[in-house]
Amino acid sequence: MASIKIAGLNKRFGDTPVLKGLDLSINDGEFISFLGPSGCGKSTLLFCIAGLEQIDEGSIRFDSKEISDLGPRERNIALVFQDYALYPHMTVRDNIAFPLRQQKLDDTTIGKQVAWAADVLGIEPLLDRLPAALSGGQRQRVAVGRAIVRNPSALLMDEPLSNLDASLRVRMRTEIRRLQKQLAITVIFVTHDQEEAMVLSDRIAVMKDGIVQQFAPPMEVYAKPANQFVAGFIGSPQMNFLPAELCGGSTGQILGVRPHDLKPAGWTNGGLSLTGELLLIEPAGPFQFLDVSVAGHVVRATCTDPSGLSPGESITLHASADAVRYFAAEGGTRINQHYMETESRIHAL
Ligand SMILES: Nc1ncnc2c1ncn2[C@@H]1O[C@H](COP(=O)(O)OP(=O)(O)O)[C@@H](O)[C@H]1O
Ligand SMILES: [Mg+2]
Repeated sequence: MASIKIAGLNKRFGDTPVLKGLDLSINDGEFISFLGPSGCGKSTLLFCIAGLEQIDEGSIRFDSKEISDLGPRERNIALVFQDYALYPHMTVRDNIAFPLRQQKLDDTTIGKQVAWAADVLGIEPLLDRLPAALSGGQRQRVAVGRAIVRNPSALLMDEPLSNLDASLRVRMRTEIRRLQKQLAITVIFVTHDQEEAMVLSDRIAVMKDGIVQQFAPPMEVYAKPANQFVAGFIGSPQMNFLPAELCGGSTGQILGVRPHDLKPAGWTNGGLSLTGELLLIEPAGPFQFLDVSVAGHVVRATCTDPSGLSPGESITLHASADAVRYFAAEGGTRINQHYMETESRIHAL
């Protein structure tokens, strides 16, 4: 087990900076996600921590030990890749035993460790099969088994669930979280899926263009996004953004309100009211999404009962004052400001 401290980390490919002055302090036993769009540098950062990529500047410490000059084997870190990379000609047992054989451990120790990993993951009945005879979820478990079998200081996972179908993804992420709790191991989990990061993590590092935008617990990232990028990346459907002056705010600001906080309302007292034309009602199971055109902007809202609503008609939406966020139009930083207008009603032009 280890804490991981990254300071002033810079990484370039040729002349192109890919990681730009990163600082991150990860506690022992924490479950951390690196979350961001494709190409933002998540895998590169993970590979720098694992020792598969060299860093250009900065330091990486495990506990208090500088490890940026150590090779991957000396770091005692386990990595699980998206494609699992199991050896096709080896049985599950031999795949899991492989890292221990490389360490030249004796057969009794190897047997014990493999049995332990198989037990933790519930894959004992599969030990004599070849990878070709396993389902996607089973292969994933074997890859995790091979990773944890030598008691690594940290487990790093690069989009490990992206090859699985939707329902299996949800089941496997629960298993990964259970395993992390049981082993009390430090986990770094790379994903571009905000929901996955939200449900799994103790803290999420939201990344964009090689820079960590915010590093905080899931609900803090959701409720107090550092900037407009984080606000838009976390939460589904995406937060609505409107020029604030439309809603009685100052120019130079963007107002943000999440679809789940914006609901049809007849009479409202205080908070934000938006009136416009209902364009579309989209069923989404327990509630429905409403697309409403307000002053030339399409705004998304939710409602539980759409009876009485028809597209083409006028509709008024309401959000309470504390659901409203503000961002600087320039740069997108969140402005810590409360929605003050008690009777602000924005109508379609
Ligand atoms: N080996 C490499 N050589 C050159 N550029 C690379 C290499 N690996 C990644 N990159 C570039 O670095 C950036 C970050 O990539 P990556 O870390 O894979 O992003 P992510 O995992 O967030 O999708 C991308 O622009 C990518 O094209
Ligand atoms: Mg990647």
